[in-house]
Amino acid sequence: MKLNGSVLVLSLFTIAFCGKQKPETNPQKPLSLTIADSITIIAQKTLGGTLMKQIADGGAMVALDFCNHQAIPITDSVANFYQVNIQRIAEKNRNPKNGFSSELDKEVWESYLTGKETGMVKKIDPNGNTIFYKPIRIGMETCLNCHGDANQIKPDVLTKLTELYPNDKATGFKMNDLRGLWKITNLKP
Ligand code: HEC
Repeated sequence: MKLNGSVLVLSLFTIAFCGKQKPETNPQKPLSLTIADSITIIAQKTLGGTLMKQIADGGAMVALDFCNHQAIPITDSVANFYQVNIQRIAEKNRNPKNGFSSELDKEVWESYLTGKETGMVKKIDPNGNTIFYKPIRIGMETCLNCHGDANQIKPDVLTKLTELYPNDKATGFKMNDLRGLWKITNLKP
């Protein structure tokens, strides 16, 4: 099981960094908590690594374009490989597609807000699908370039954000705030 896990994580790294492999059949259903956790780490590293590079190379405006066009496709590419759905959802969402869509989403979010839960949790939804959630925090100052107070966001970036996301709720965050949730859905076979 342990070995199996490392092999799968390694495969995920390959797809995350070399891209364009054909999705394979999920070799391990139902998904374990450990593997679900690894999936969020890979997705986070893939998104976060590219984001940091984009900011270093071209600044927040270039990185913003990347987030706008690539955030969902990148998480989807990891999801395809694993044959699960991966979402980043938030109550204060920027992209309305990333809002909460069920009572379970809201319940789990509450449990992180109140501190009842802190790590990844596994739930079964009313349709029998397995869902894993994990909190996403504002873990780096970099996040504040686009999710901080209005005075922490460069004026051109703020203008572009308002243009792309007229109902943007994802500003005003501080370091270590809960920003949203990873949601991994493993559909009932
Ligand atoms: C360069 C600007 C930029 C930076 C820096 C940035 N984000 Fe975002 N973030 C965005 C954009 C744009 C979206 C909407 C993406 C989309 O349309 O799918 C987004 C969406 C999200 C979402 C999905 C929920 C939602 O609101 O739509 C989460 C969670 C999130 N960001 C967390 C973070 C964290 C944590 C950091 C720091 C590691 C970070 N972001 C850094 C621009 C940024």
